[in-house]
Amino acid sequence: MAPHVDLFFYFMLAVSGFFSLLIAGLVVFFLVRYREGRPGSLREAEAAVEQSHGSGTMLLEIVWSVIPLGIAMVMFVWGTTLYFDLARPPADVLQMYVVGKQWMWKIQHPEGPREINELHVPIGRAVKLTMASEDVIHSFSIPAFRVKQDVVPGRFTQLWFEATKAGTYHLFCAEYCGTQHSGMIGHVVVMEPKDYEAWLGGGVPGQTLAQAGEKLFAERACSTCHLPTGQGRGPSLVGLFGSAVKLEGGGTVIADESYVRESILNPTAKIVAGYQPLMPTQQGLVSEEQLVALVAYIKSLSKEPGQPARTAKE
Ligand code: CUA
Repeated sequence: MAPHVDLFFYFMLAVSGFFSLLIAGLVVFFLVRYREGRPGSLREAEAAVEQSHGSGTMLLEIVWSVIPLGIAMVMFVWGTTLYFDLARPPADVLQMYVVGKQWMWKIQHPEGPREINELHVPIGRAVKLTMASEDVIHSFSIPAFRVKQDVVPGRFTQLWFEATKAGTYHLFCAEYCGTQHSGMIGHVVVMEPKDYEAWLGGGVPGQTLAQAGEKLFAERACSTCHLPTGQGRGPSLVGLFGSAVKLEGGGTVIADESYVRESILNPTAKIVAGYQPLMPTQQGLVSEEQLVALVAYIKSLSKEPGQPARTAKE
């Protein structure tokens, strides 16, 4: 996105610069042209005012209204288009999870590897970050990619980018979050796809994020009610993610990350049609990192089109 954002920025800079210079130049010109004591200057000024009330006024006013409106609309449409591009990740993304806390970034790859203050990504793949905060508001910022997104306690926020050049880039927290805010920094390491695969495989062999979620799902006894057969006291979660869920009392909701999160922390907020509000809240019982594991597990129970389930390295 960086070249597109930059082009837009320089366009606005050029327009602002042009009009600033034009106005400042005219101010100086008029100061000199109509200065006190210059012979005939008062008469000239009066004549100019007189003329400006003449018949050409309407045309002049239309021109100086329509042209700025046109320029402002170009900025609006261009800026909005860019904003939507930045806000809407493509369908085929690498999904990663970020948890911000005072004062570090914890990053979780679906294949299992965890990182602190480092994020390894391959070139040429769109990467989507689902982010949560354990304490206060942070902001995940990679200036080189021209992306920044607040990370807010109590909800998921998202950010996506596609790295195009191998290298190491700065990663910042861009929201003052306490005394060590300035130390909440790190690096994004962009690698050739084969190097990335090697990096993934070189980590400590362990469970994937979805497997960690599955373990937690059993430990917290979620599995006793959410039977895959749909015969349990809670609805089956197989094929849930990405589908439209009918709710008790009418209405539907698309089962995305935020819905899954809400249903874990505040189960009575949206009751699935045909079920009782029996589930106890998990608020305070699962950490943000456990939440992303549970979300990854529930996601792994359904195969969205365009988002083939990624398998762990064999
Ligand atoms: Cu986190 Cu500033």
